[in-house]
Amino acid sequence: MNKITIAIDGYSSTGKSTVAKQVAKTLGYIYVDSGAMYRVVTLYAIQKGLISTDDFNKEALIYQLGNIEISFQFNPVLGFAEAYLNGVNVEKRIRTLEVSGYVSKIAEVSEVRRKLVAIQQQMGEDKGVVMDGRDIGTVVFPNAALKLFMTATAEERAQRRYKELLERGDRVTYEAVLKNVTERDYIDTHREDSPLIKAKDAITIDNSNLTLEGQYEKILQLVRLTLEDEE
Ligand code: CDP
Repeated sequence: MNKITIAIDGYSSTGKSTVAKQVAKTLGYIYVDSGAMYRVVTLYAIQKGLISTDDFNKEALIYQLGNIEISFQFNPVLGFAEAYLNGVNVEKRIRTLEVSGYVSKIAEVSEVRRKLVAIQQQMGEDKGVVMDGRDIGTVVFPNAALKLFMTATAEERAQRRYKELLERGDRVTYEAVLKNVTERDYIDTHREDSPLIKAKDAITIDNSNLTLEGQYEKILQLVRLTLEDEE
C-alpha cells in the first residue's frame, strides 16, 4: 500500500498530537510533533537568557541557531518520541506554561522557521508520516494527501490543557492557561511568516463536542478514504 503524508494543523490544545499519535500508531507511520521543535528552541532561548517577560534578543538567537541541535528519541515505555536539545532529554521541560508563554514569539522569527521547516521536510521525505503543527498543510507539506484543520472553543481547549498541566504537577490556574491559549492563537494567526490558516484543501474537525474516541474514528475514516483514493 502506498504511504501518504498526513498534515494536521490547528489552534493550540486542540488535541492534534493525541490524534496524530493514534493515527501514526495504527498505520505504522512516524509521528512528528513540529510544535515540540519550536518549544525546544524556546527552551534554549530561556536557558541562555535571550528571552524574558520584557526583552527578546532576536539577533542573538538568530546568531546562535547553529548551536541548537534538536533530535527525537522513541521511548518505548511512553510509546512516543521524546525531544532532545543538544543531546539532553527536555521532553518535560518544554511542556511547561513558561515555555508556552514565549514560544509564539520565537515562532514568529523567519530564520527559526526556515531551520525547523527544513528539518521537518527531511523527516517527511519518505512519506509515511503524520505531522502536526500550524503550517504543515500550507508550508511544510503543501502536497500532503490528507490535511486536517482542528478547532474547538478556547474555553474547551484551555480546560483540557489546564487538566493536563495539573496532572503533570505544574501549579497553574485555569485563567493563566486560557490567557496563554488565546494569546498564542492571536500571534499564530496574525504573524507575517506562515500564519496559522486553514489550507484550501483541508478538512475542518471541530472537536468541541467530540470524545477522543469519536474524533479518532472520524479521522481514521478520512484516512481510509484517502488511502483508497491513492491506490
Ligand atoms: O500543544 P499546543 O497545540 O499548545 O502547541 P504546540 O503544537 O506545541 O506549538 C507550540 C507553538 O509553536 C505554537 O503556539 C506556535 O506558535 C508554534 N508552532 C508553529 O509556529 N508552527 C508549527 N508548525 C508548530 C508550532
